[in-house]
Amino acid sequence: MVENIKNYLEELKRFTSQKTEEVEQFRVKYLGKKGIINDLFLKFKDVPNEEKREFGQQINNLKQQVLQKIDTLQNALNSQDKIEAKLDFTRPGIPLGLGSRHPVNVVKNKIINIFKKIGFSVADGPEIEDDWHNFTALNMPEYHPARDMQDTFFIEKDPDMVLRTHTSSVQIRYLEQNTPPIRILSPGRVYRNEDISSRSHCMFHQIEGLYVDTDVSFADLKQTLQYFTSELFGKSEIRMRPSYFPFTEPSAEVDVYWGLETETDYRITKGTGWLEILGCGMVDPNVLKNVNIDPDKYSGFAFGMGIERIVMLMYQIGDIRMFTENDIRILQQFSNEF
Ligand code: DAH
Repeated sequence: MVENIKNYLEELKRFTSQKTEEVEQFRVKYLGKKGIINDLFLKFKDVPNEEKREFGQQINNLKQQVLQKIDTLQNALNSQDKIEAKLDFTRPGIPLGLGSRHPVNVVKNKIINIFKKIGFSVADGPEIEDDWHNFTALNMPEYHPARDMQDTFFIEKDPDMVLRTHTSSVQIRYLEQNTPPIRILSPGRVYRNEDISSRSHCMFHQIEGLYVDTDVSFADLKQTLQYFTSELFGKSEIRMRPSYFPFTEPSAEVDVYWGLETETDYRITKGTGWLEILGCGMVDPNVLKNVNIDPDKYSGFAFGMGIERIVMLMYQIGDIRMFTENDIRILQQFSNEF
């Protein structure tokens, strides 16, 4: 008998449920007319007198515990019912606002898509770069004054490592690993220590283009850039001004004819109608030699542009700081662009 009570207590401890019917079944099982507790009381009279006192206490203890358990379970059920009564599952949900792409990424993707159509694919390189890929192999030996064109962040622990100052380093990485024909675009972050005003930024984005094959000519370069400007800006009148970059020969800076129709056109072109958009040139034979490509057999062209500058032109953004201020009112204006 006492054994039985122990078993009931065990079962009682283990029992739990969040269903009303199950709690009710449990209640009937113990406290119902033909339930366990009543059954035990019926057996009480058969217990020898000297055991009656202890047996009685045990039945009462069991009953108390059953009552307590049922009380706890029912309370839990009631509060759950209350929560569910308050929730209206038929109401429409709170809409979660979708984010939008950053304008720099929007324009980067546009540029990639334009060049994809003529066979360019995307290549990546590290932002922490060694001297060879960022400078030396690009025909900028140590102590060459051209290194001063880009103020460099050096890595303190290893002066051979820098934060890349341009995406041109990817030209070298790709040329080292691949053989012509090569047609790549390489977008990414670049870093310069241009501490000249609070407006200047130490990080910005560039996109690099490189085409190396047999018989690549300056005419190919010009045609490609004309195709590019007409696709991106809807303007195909360009001019190429002679310039200097160590890794191209000849080198040029490219202006697009923006027009002089509105006041803004006057302002952004300083009254000339022309806007500078990128640097370019024919890959210097020294660069090809540095990556073991025969410059007598192959030639190529390259170009590089700052993405922020292009975005500012396209969307008439007046201040480069807007790109990093994360003002949601700016970002939201690009929610329909990809
Ligand atoms: N790397 C140059 C810069 O950061 C841009 C550039 C100019 C890239 C001419 C080129 C190029 O590939 O041919 O100012």
